[in-house]
Amino acid sequence: MTVEAKLGRVGADAADAVIVGLFEGERLPDGRATAMENALKGLLSDVLDIGDFKGKKGDTLLLYPRGAAPPKRVLLVGLGPRERFTLDIARQAAGKAGRALLDLGVTRLMTTVHGLGITGLSPDACAQATVEGTLLGTYRFSEFKTDNGQNGKRLDRLTVVYSHRGRARAIQAGVETGRIVADSTLLARDLSNAPGNALTPRGLADAASKMAKRAHLACQVFGKKEIEKIGMGALLAVNRGSEEPPRFIVLEHGQPSGKQGTIVFVGKGITFDSGGISIKPGDRMEEMKHDMSGAAAVVGAMQAIGALNLPAHVVGLIPATENLPDGRAYKPGDIIPTLAGKTIEVINTDAEGRVVLADALAYAARYKPAAVIDLATLTGACVVALGHHATGIMGNDEVVMARVQRAGNATGERVWPLPLWDEYHEQIKSEVADVKNTGGRPGGAITGAAFLQKFVDYPWVHLDIAGTAYTDREQPYCPKGATGAGVRLLVQFAKDWGK
Ligand code: BES
Ligand code: MN
Ligand code: ZN
Repeated sequence: MTVEAKLGRVGADAADAVIVGLFEGERLPDGRATAMENALKGLLSDVLDIGDFKGKKGDTLLLYPRGAAPPKRVLLVGLGPRERFTLDIARQAAGKAGRALLDLGVTRLMTTVHGLGITGLSPDACAQATVEGTLLGTYRFSEFKTDNGQNGKRLDRLTVVYSHRGRARAIQAGVETGRIVADSTLLARDLSNAPGNALTPRGLADAASKMAKRAHLACQVFGKKEIEKIGMGALLAVNRGSEEPPRFIVLEHGQPSGKQGTIVFVGKGITFDSGGISIKPGDRMEEMKHDMSGAAAVVGAMQAIGALNLPAHVVGLIPATENLPDGRAYKPGDIIPTLAGKTIEVINTDAEGRVVLADALAYAARYKPAAVIDLATLTGACVVALGHHATGIMGNDEVVMARVQRAGNATGERVWPLPLWDEYHEQIKSEVADVKNTGGRPGGAITGAAFLQKFVDYPWVHLDIAGTAYTDREQPYCPKGATGAGVRLLVQFAKDWGK
């Protein structure tokens, strides 16, 4: 697929389809009015006069110029009121428009840059959001459909048209960043959508190491023997019920530098979560193929960070295993050793994410990190608390948490805090071990984080993406299934790290 920026007058050249973003109640996009009107010979004006298109957020109207202008199709897309415009509205509009056209079978698109000229928004940010929205919105997971060509048409070319020569560099940079970030988000979606039989811990490690070669990152994959040698008793305990051996994946970009300090991303990599001996009900258990979405976000973000060659030292860590019941599986009541030396009493084998993360977080200490962010589909309780519209954020460092929140707002990946007070730690005290792996129903998302906190001794932020990692309703720039949650946020966080 090609993504490009082109200086020109939108609508002036032949194209299969041109997407034009319009603000509510406004006639034509700023600065391009004359070019557009000339090219489309008043067609747009007529439509706006009749009042069939008002520019409300997400509205679309497809026009056929029938020779009055060079493009075969013009798709108007509403951006809502100018004063309420945000970059996420650009993504949503671009996603809806791109998807509508792809559904018609149009695979080569031209688009205006949504939001260009709005005070406070840079042209590169607008271009980036427009490209992200289009690529994310036209994503389809069709790898396992055998009727490809038919149902599985893919976007072939996206041309971003702009008319101000002076903005060329900014727009080009934004388009390129948008392409890289979107591609990486789609990689995360592909990994998360892949079924448990296709993406085992081994498969996840292979995907990560292939990605690392492409993006020029260092990658180490530890197998079962090495995991034993390192002493990751917690990861091994969860793995016991599975025929598939575990993996521990280490990705690395850049070099340690005293000045800025190392960032570590940790992603939960349960390639399928049946609950283990504390087995889950069958209803919607298939969704637990997504239980490695934290890992997918780390792989995706590391790809983007490598491709953008960000000036930072960033490490990605992924503990990967299935969680299955079996004669050898770990059991409620078991007490297990961990890399940190602390012991865990297993109350519920379905609280396996925090168990494998305990070892990964202990491993992260080796980098003497300035900030560690873990991402995990950790608790159903987080979905109860925040629904599907925000990722839960908890941590031990206000400064890093504020940075993550800022990155979330900038990328349309909203996070919302839950308290992590000492009292919550009472709920996970064990009579027989150092900590137990569940704290009962009250505050379930928080006691999950409180458990993780026992294994960190550095600035740390936990992101519970259980509600945001996948969706059962189509969204403006995401079809049903994995969302790629976390990729854009992590990349933005790493970009801003030096500032
Ligand atoms: N992977 C699940 C959490 C989850 C649930 C993610 C629903 C996405 C949607 C996790 O491993 C789990 O089973 N958590 C338990 C913890 C409990 C036993 C303390 C839960 O949330 O019920
Ligand atoms: Mn579980
Ligand atoms: Zn799980």
